[in-house]
Amino acid sequence: MKTKKILVATSGGDCPGLNAVLRAFVKRATAEAGWEVWASLQSFNGLLGTPRRLRKLDRQCVSGIHVKGGTLIGTTKESGPFNWPVHNPDGTIVYLDRSDEMVALCGELGFEAVVNIGGDGSQKMSLRLFEKGLPVIGIPKTIDNDLDATDVTFGFQTAVDIATEALDRLVSTAESHNRIQILEVMGKHSGWIALHAAIAGGAEICLIPEIPYDIACIRKFLDRRFDNGNGKCFAVAIVAEGAMPQGGAPCVSAQTHANISAKLTGAAERFASELKRTGETASIRSTILGHVQRGGTPAAYDRILSAQYGVKAFEMVKAGEFGRMAALQNGRLSSVPLAEATRQLKRVDPRSDLVNVARSINICFGD
Ligand code: F6P
Repeated sequence: MKTKKILVATSGGDCPGLNAVLRAFVKRATAEAGWEVWASLQSFNGLLGTPRRLRKLDRQCVSGIHVKGGTLIGTTKESGPFNWPVHNPDGTIVYLDRSDEMVALCGELGFEAVVNIGGDGSQKMSLRLFEKGLPVIGIPKTIDNDLDATDVTFGFQTAVDIATEALDRLVSTAESHNRIQILEVMGKHSGWIALHAAIAGGAEICLIPEIPYDIACIRKFLDRRFDNGNGKCFAVAIVAEGAMPQGGAPCVSAQTHANISAKLTGAAERFASELKRTGETASIRSTILGHVQRGGTPAAYDRILSAQYGVKAFEMVKAGEFGRMAALQNGRLSSVPLAEATRQLKRVDPRSDLVNVARSINICFGD
């Protein structure tokens, strides 16, 4: 029997659950005679780089990895088939499009299917490769939960749990010192982590990119809370990194690389300064949760979701469902065209039930 080879890659930022997906996919694929799973290390850079870095994945090497953070096969946001950097002797860098070469190479190496586990940017890359003839399937990953056409991405729940735990800890110290504690969480374009953690952790203020805030409105909210005689002289705010004031823009801290989107950080500090400028006298502290949200062991929910996506992706390979992404829709496993999943980001609807619930329990969005 001819061996059928599949190439897998983890792309973009890491995320709790990547290893659980790999384990499920390899277990399912290698349970059937004739299938082999290979990994391209550090996304597709392993395939395109010299020397080539591919690794065969068997049941043994994925055994027990579902509890581990990170990714067994590495990942990166840099380089890739459409932006391959070539360093010139004069110090300049040019970026080559090596996508045609990659499609041809996958054929020459005998890969019948390619599985790309990644978020929005990575699935846009999958779509472009599919349009060039690559038999590719996507698996939705991102702690931000902003990939469209799926109910949820794996990694999100773990990030929410971590952010909630951080909020719980900040509440006790805020209360002891009568302080305003601000927690900055990830979420460049969407406030899913902030919104969910705000409700779970009982934050007073939740600032998200989808609802630009008015600092005067927040100041009034805090004055009411501190002056209403119930003894509450502290407050906890959760701020997505992409949050912005009305008429303003997100806080861009640095662009490390011309071909990588700018990093956002500083939203919490900016919010603290704005509050002080309104005359707020309470002591204010801010914490950036950062990559703590992306590291470490995945929550049970994400392990289960990852197992579902891993198994579903192999069924899709077998059925030849290329150009599609595994998805959960209304709680059921399905697949959706990559084009649909990447058309737009899934953002928080300010009029959604969840935002209304948050408002009903007195969370202030600053609008
Ligand atoms: O894309 C997911 C994400 O977690 C964003 O919310 C965040 O801005 C970004 O990754 C930061 O990632 P890195 O520091 O690895 O570029």
